[in-house]
Amino acid sequence: MKIIMLGAPGAGKGTQAKMIAEKYGVPHVSTGDIFRANIKNGTQLGMEAKKYMDQGLLVPDELTVRILLDRVAQDDCKNGYVLDGFPRTIPQAQVLDEALTKLGDKIDYAIDVDVPDENIIRRMSGRRACLTCGATYHIEHIPPKKEGICDKCGSELVLRDDDKPETVKNRLAVYHEQTQPLIDFYEKKGVLRTVDGTLPMEEVFAAITGILG
Ligand code: AP5
Ligand code: MG
Repeated sequence: MKIIMLGAPGAGKGTQAKMIAEKYGVPHVSTGDIFRANIKNGTQLGMEAKKYMDQGLLVPDELTVRILLDRVAQDDCKNGYVLDGFPRTIPQAQVLDEALTKLGDKIDYAIDVDVPDENIIRRMSGRRACLTCGATYHIEHIPPKKEGICDKCGSELVLRDDDKPETVKNRLAVYHEQTQPLIDFYEKKGVLRTVDGTLPMEEVFAAITGILG
């Protein structure tokens, strides 16, 4: 099963993608997590990506596409994956499409987690992220068991550099301009499904499992 998560920054793509990955036994592939892990480890790729991410801009397609295609070519992706944060532009979607077509394959579902802009800024300021294992929490909605510490790996939780309100505004503008057109793109392919992302996360997940079966 090959799934794409669509939705604005903070819509809950990562939260739902992790739950899907666990239930259906497919890897969760997040380009944002890959970039953040590289930033944390001080790699060349991380330094390049950080220049864009800190301003709320997209990392150039060329770099992002290369990383994503490398990742999905790995063995654990043979039976499917859930993509979170990719594609984010029409050219990225076209490259993915071509790569899959060559393999006689296709995307099964593109799930749009729909949340209006008003809700987003509030959510982001409460998010806490683990840069070691990629887990995400919310100080009110989904708190960790011990404040500031990741339940899964025990690392320290942080407010992401790009979750400051002014950067979130830029990310939302970039989303509307460059990523939202993908909703139409996947609708035309007949694989788009929309869920109401303003509901509690268990209800959003129930809607998604209703779609995936
Ligand atoms: P990325 O990491 O993908 O960030 P994003 O799309 O901005 O999305 P987020 O991770 O911020 O939000 P999310 O939808 O995953 O929400 P979450 O589940 O955490 O990308 C970061 C940057 O990397 C980009 O800006 C770009 O620069 C670069 N990049 C990445 N991919 C790229 C690409 N393909 N091309 C170019 N550049 C790329 O939830 C948010 C919060 O809400 C959490 O606190 C969560 O606990 C809480 N929450 C979740 N669900 C609910 C709910 N139902 N009710 C209440 N609270 C909830
Ligand atoms: Mg995310």
